[in-house]
Amino acid sequence: MAGITLNDVVKTYGEVVAVDSVSLDVGDGELVALVGPSGCGKTTTLNLVAGLIELTDGEILLGDKVINDLDPKDRDLAMVFQNYALYPNKTVFENLAFPLKMRKMAKAEIATRVTRTAETLSIGHLLQRRPKELSGGQQQRVALGRALVRNPKAFLMDEPLSNLDAKLRVQMRAELKRFHQELGATVLYVTHDQMEAVTMADKIAVMNLGVLQQFASPDEIYNRPVNTFVAGFIGSPAMNLLRGRFVSAAGEGAIQGADGWTLPLNPANARRAGASAGEVVVGIRHGHVLLHRQAHRGAMPARIYTVEPTGDITFVHVRLGSQLLVASTAPGFTAAPDDPIWVEFEQDHLHLFDEASDVALLGDGAGVELAGVGAGATSSATAAKGASGPSGGEALPAAAGAGVVSDL
Ligand SMILES: Nc1ncnc2c1ncn2[C@@H]1O[C@H](COP(=O)(O)OP(=O)(O)O)[C@@H](O)[C@H]1O
Ligand SMILES: [Mg+2]
Repeated sequence: MAGITLNDVVKTYGEVVAVDSVSLDVGDGELVALVGPSGCGKTTTLNLVAGLIELTDGEILLGDKVINDLDPKDRDLAMVFQNYALYPNKTVFENLAFPLKMRKMAKAEIATRVTRTAETLSIGHLLQRRPKELSGGQQQRVALGRALVRNPKAFLMDEPLSNLDAKLRVQMRAELKRFHQELGATVLYVTHDQMEAVTMADKIAVMNLGVLQQFASPDEIYNRPVNTFVAGFIGSPAMNLLRGRFVSAAGEGAIQGADGWTLPLNPANARRAGASAGEVVVGIRHGHVLLHRQAHRGAMPARIYTVEPTGDITFVHVRLGSQLLVASTAPGFTAAPDDPIWVEFEQDHLHLFDEASDVALLGDGAGVELAGVGAGATSSATAAKGASGPSGGEALPAAAGAGVVSDL
């Protein structure tokens, strides 16, 4: 296998800039997910790597070789599409052998390669079956085998799972990840589904309107999104984003919404917000929104909108001013629409963006993981994590990764 490198890759169609100076690299044996909304340029980027369309500008390398001008068939890349398109009347063996036959390979060599590939993918016992006698997972393995048998340097996959129903998609996602890990396969994987990207990829490239927004590990993208687009795109339910204005008086900082709420900030967050031009966007994920039944220091008065139990986690939608936010709690939480509720944002997990530039305010290089910073409004977040809080409200631990409801 070999790595893939894109340097300032551009593709224009008349006025449309489908891919706008994208640079990224897929390390040898890495799976990089290219993710973004429909029309953001994912397929175009992949097709440029495959050589199916011509570059407007920039450079693409496979290993250390520039492949800009190579014919697709000479690029040693294997493409896997949405439709596996196995030949229904051919056996698994014949399906795997087909691409080699097309290349006029000798029969004995074909047999050796097909057998080796089938064993690699644990489908050696299925070689005499036809596609309709296989499960969805086995069919996927055969389709991958047909790409693998050619000994490609890397795999290009364009939404290979998007035609499958939800349950099968989750199963196949795990299969694909195993395939990548077992073979050390280099994979450039295109998807519009952020969950596929987060669960499978070594690195994620988030695109919007042809422009690469952030290229980093799933952890980095999730915890330190560089702008509000990435913050809102990665994560489900999406991160809560609220627009407000930074205000400070007597050393205390807060963010005020035009619709009446005031979010007090701890000193570290006040410093970060202070670096903005004044207007900021506050981001908080559902798991870091704490709900209180009564007024609580650092918490803002809100109203229940609706409660959604899902089994292992309950999502609580609340109306704060004119906005809807989503919080998550342990199962068993109940409330009626329009009940009063107080929402507190865990200060150590607050995301802040400068509204004017749409850039994350990371502050002191510490970013959003300000572990250990505890003052003012963080007190009950600390309490929720097990320390004794000043409010007297005993916090209940919630489902893993979910928020905490205290004062019940
Ligand atoms: N052959 C083409 N001619 C003109 N515009 C195109 C062509 N192919 C793609 N585009 C435009 O380029 C943009 C990116 O398309 P695409 O790469 O298919 O997006 P994605 O795969 O992310 O959904 C879109 O605005 C699309 O309309
Ligand atoms: Mg596409």
